[in-house]
Amino acid sequence: MSNNNVNILITGATGYLGGSILERLLNHPDFARFKITAIVRSAKKAEKLKKLGIDVAVGSHSDADLVTDLAAKADVVFTAADADDLGAAQALLAGLKQRFEKTGKKSVLIHTSGAATLIDLNANGTTPHQVYDDTDATQIETLPGSSYHRHVDLPLVNADIEGFVKTYIILPSLVYGIATGTLVDLGIRNPHTLLFPHLIRLCQKRGQGGVPGKGLNKWPHVHINDMADLYIRLFDAVIANAPGLGHGREGYYFAENGHTLSYDLCKAVAVALAARGVGTEEPTVFTEEEHKTVSHVHSSMRNLFLNSGIGIGRHLQEFLLAILSSSVECKASRARALGWEPRYGDEEFFGSFDAEVGAALRG
Ligand SMILES: NC(=O)c1ccc[n+]([C@@H]2O[C@H](COP(=O)([O-])OP(=O)(O)OC[C@H]3O[C@@H](n4cnc5c(N)ncnc54)[C@H](OP(=O)(O)O)[C@@H]3O)[C@@H](O)[C@H]2O)c1
Repeated sequence: MSNNNVNILITGATGYLGGSILERLLNHPDFARFKITAIVRSAKKAEKLKKLGIDVAVGSHSDADLVTDLAAKADVVFTAADADDLGAAQALLAGLKQRFEKTGKKSVLIHTSGAATLIDLNANGTTPHQVYDDTDATQIETLPGSSYHRHVDLPLVNADIEGFVKTYIILPSLVYGIATGTLVDLGIRNPHTLLFPHLIRLCQKRGQGGVPGKGLNKWPHVHINDMADLYIRLFDAVIANAPGLGHGREGYYFAENGHTLSYDLCKAVAVALAARGVGTEEPTVFTEEEHKTVSHVHSSMRNLFLNSGIGIGRHLQEFLLAILSSSVECKASRARALGWEPRYGDEEFFGSFDAEVGAALRG
């Protein structure tokens, strides 16, 4: 990519992850040469973003023409809205293809997927399971097409192979930490991660921290600031035309900096709740009934759930507990090879639940 101005399109800019990207772009030393466009549903947030120098298209990603038109002008597209929105992904690809056919310019797509694609739903914490390494493209290709997010990730990789776009797929694991910064201060960005507020409210409702079974299952975690570092490090490498930068089938970037047992995570929630007078510090096992209870459904989670192999028509709480009853184990080798040095580890992960519980109980 040349050193001239860079047209950037971003989806999910008002969200937890997308906001982390936009915040870093706003503070990027090369900001003056970026022309950033965000697709945003809220007219009020759009006005605030415009004051920060962002071009805003007010609308939804379900408006395929809008998405295609904007993608057709973009050098770089960041997506961080809904990892399972195939229609939006297809509309983006259509625009990027148009651009390539008209100008010969190959755009870059940095897409947010999720580590749930690596899920082992049968893991019980005692039997061995697959540990995925993002530098092993052949291993990733063993994932079934029915895995979470694959129905979107695979067409993106195929587009890269077809040759009109370079795709980079980022797979965040359990992202934690309450986001801070200008976009949060201005009320533009969601500062909270997806899963934990739901878990906390569920435990609050039952009056006691809970844990699925023995909680021997394992999940990776990553702090929101380290996520932002990863997006921007990759972006910088892309615009600098860094040699040997993996893309397409070699372009999966896991994001983790340690793994947690479900029990330890649930215990941290129980301790923070107990400190606020909700139950005791020892989580109790969620009942079969609780695994099936309907709860508030977040739109991205509903989509994730509906597209999952777990079973269509079941509900968020069930999904949440299914996640905590399953395992993902992976190594973020590709990002580290790029020079990514995550700064937050287990201590910050477990330490984060106090603030998260405080915020969930207040909100
Ligand atoms: N947070 C995590 O731990 C995590 C981990 C792995 C993967 N992911 C995936 O990453 C993606 C983003 O997650 P997040 O935590 O950043 O969620 P989030 O805070 O809810 O952000 C999603 C953003 O996308 C926007 N959006 C969604 N659908 C849209 C549409 N049709 N048109 C326009 N805007 C739309 C939302 O806009 P509004 O402001 O209008 O609602 C929101 O700002 C999700 O697919 C999630 O599954 C998240």
